[in-house]
Amino acid sequence: MKSKTMFYCTECGNELPKWAGQCPACKAWNTIVEQPAETKRRSAVSAGETRHSVSRPKPMAEVETGQELRFETGMRELDRVLGGGAVQGSLVLVGGAPGIGKSTLMLQICDHLCRFAKVLYVSGEESERQIKLRADRLHVQGTQLYLQAETNLEDILESVRELKPDILIVDSIQTLYNGELSAAPGSIGQVKDCTMALMQLAKGQGVTVFVIGHVNKEGSIAGPKVLEHMVDCVLYFEGEQQNSYRILRAAKNRFGATNEIGVFEMGDSGLREVPNPSEMLLAGRPQDTPGTCVTCVMEGVRPVLAEVQALLAPTSFNVPRRTANGFDFNRTNLLLAVLEKRGGLMVSTCDAYINVIGGLFLDEPAADLAMIIAMASSFRDKPVPGDLAAVGEVGLTGELRSVNALGQRLSEVHRLGFTKCLVPARAGGKLEVPDGLQLIKVRNIREALAAII
Ligand code: TYD
Ligand code: MG
Repeated sequence: MKSKTMFYCTECGNELPKWAGQCPACKAWNTIVEQPAETKRRSAVSAGETRHSVSRPKPMAEVETGQELRFETGMRELDRVLGGGAVQGSLVLVGGAPGIGKSTLMLQICDHLCRFAKVLYVSGEESERQIKLRADRLHVQGTQLYLQAETNLEDILESVRELKPDILIVDSIQTLYNGELSAAPGSIGQVKDCTMALMQLAKGQGVTVFVIGHVNKEGSIAGPKVLEHMVDCVLYFEGEQQNSYRILRAAKNRFGATNEIGVFEMGDSGLREVPNPSEMLLAGRPQDTPGTCVTCVMEGVRPVLAEVQALLAPTSFNVPRRTANGFDFNRTNLLLAVLEKRGGLMVSTCDAYINVIGGLFLDEPAADLAMIIAMASSFRDKPVPGDLAAVGEVGLTGELRSVNALGQRLSEVHRLGFTKCLVPARAGGKLEVPDGLQLIKVRNIREALAAII
């Protein structure tokens, strides 16, 4: 019999009859791979568990809701992103680039989890010895922590049947395989099938499952995106390798909101929680130096202060050079054009280098005003007062537009010891301004520049 092959997108799992350079569903490039078509026969593992229990429709009135049982992971930043702790019997997918710290995070929470639950940590990436060495380094004392280096799904399910853990951690889904499928580990078919089996484990036996999934740009392995619709929670761990800060975001959460973030710092002894990100991001800020300004952006529902920096210097090229790190490149050009045309500063003769401190990416228009001010400050070589922050969106005519959650932003600005804040004039009348914070209301960037630089 001729074996059939199918084409899949490793980003979104879309199936195609033939290869294409771009996925028609998610528009990602170079993500289509050829793989053997999945056999129709249901795998014994996925069918075996449920064969005896026949479910029947129930009147809704008879369905018991109860309160979902939650437990803390010992990491408040993680609990917050999960919506107030992990839900018993849920499946949480933790995605992120290789080396970002997913295994470290999972191993670290074991220290707390083991105190009240039996935890099985299955790794397909490291040997038991390697995990133990890492656990020692992270000061994880697991009395009820069981380690297993295994990649075969059936064997893992067998271990779960024997050991009966309350919590199962799988590192990583791409190394797992079901021997009944012909596809290679990490392929779409395998990744989906294994996740399905783990989901049945979670729902059927109430085991809380944490699954690690690598996100890789080349698309040679199926990423967590393919699994997003199947699982309860999807968390993404973000950050830059060369930067020690890590942000955990929820992309999906069946048991809570998705607008919370958790902030961590990677250090010598693992991940450390950062309950006060603003303080961390402002640490070491230069005083009385031109080209820097502080703003407040919303990371989910959390206001976070960020420092934006600009360096404008006369160009020695035909076309001025521009680079933007942590800020949209096109928006940088747009703001420079607004600054020239509406602010009257001849910045087109300058190279412009933009940087946001701490590895943050500011994709919120509320950061516009601070960026404009940092640029102007560098251009005129005059420092911005150290106790001043700026919040506001800049329009094409140089006008300032109001931003959402201004009250929350002002509280955070005040909490970190700033005494003045530039805000759009039409910021809303019933705004609660913290005592001791002076608002400087401006209608456009000319007024803003006149007020401080
Ligand atoms: P890891 O958790 O293995 O990443 P992932 O599972 O997401 O692939 O983290 C690996 C990186 O973290 C590695 O580059 C080393 C660094 N690291 C530290 O800096 N400090 C530590 O205490 C640990 C355990 C790792
Ligand atoms: Mg790992």
